[in-house]
Amino acid sequence: MPQARLRSERLDLVPLAEEHLPFLVELNSDPVALRYLYTRRLTAAETEARMRRWIAGAVDGLGLWVAYGSGDPIGLFMLATPDGPSRPGVAELGYRLPQRSWRQGFAKEGSRELVRHGFEDLGLDRIIAQTMAVNEASRATMASAGLTYARSFHEDVEEPLAGHEDGEVEYEITRGMWRSPV
Ligand SMILES: CC(C)(COP(=O)(O)OP(=O)(O)OC[C@H]1O[C@@H](n2cnc3c(N)ncnc32)[C@H](O)[C@@H]1OP(=O)(O)O)[C@@H](O)C(=O)NCCC(=O)NCCS
Repeated sequence: MPQARLRSERLDLVPLAEEHLPFLVELNSDPVALRYLYTRRLTAAETEARMRRWIAGAVDGLGLWVAYGSGDPIGLFMLATPDGPSRPGVAELGYRLPQRSWRQGFAKEGSRELVRHGFEDLGLDRIIAQTMAVNEASRATMASAGLTYARSFHEDVEEPLAGHEDGEVEYEITRGMWRSPV
């Protein structure tokens, strides 16, 4: 199943393609936006290699999307197969916006559309999202998209980021929770 182009009230969500490389390079050049993701800026070559892996890894209607508002791209969204052991019916939500797009409700709006798409169009059973425990903005975005806290865990990494000692959190929403929110 090919990845669908999606619409929300203000956003046009376009499946990630090679034409989006300059936007990904912009995202990977801002240390503030990267502080919970990478210990340093990524080079254009590293970004291109990641983009190619993401595009090649898009399966079953899942993948990454670039969101547009009225002009330049406003953010990168993900609804993809989680890393690790195979978990049929489960997908992982993610999002990353440049600072110029922050605090305007775009991450919430794009995430809600991907959650709807995952359950209504793709027939998923569960959507999860993970972030560092200290990433308040990401945790608030998960909650605003209807996900609730599921668990905390620790990851062994070669280059720990600031806040690594507080661990990671996972949030989730099931199809039942989405249909009948409390
Ligand atoms: C996390 C991120 C996508 C949020 O994007 P955003 O467009 O600013 O978020 P929204 O405006 O849609 O806000 C969504 C919710 O989060 C809250 N929020 C956003 N930024 C926040 C912050 N810095 N601190 C606390 N809450 C925050 C909003 O108030 C809103 O909650 P509400 O619906 O209860 O009012 C953005 O900060 C970002 O790209 N950060 C860098 C990359 C990153 O950390 N990605 C996540 C990796 S797991």
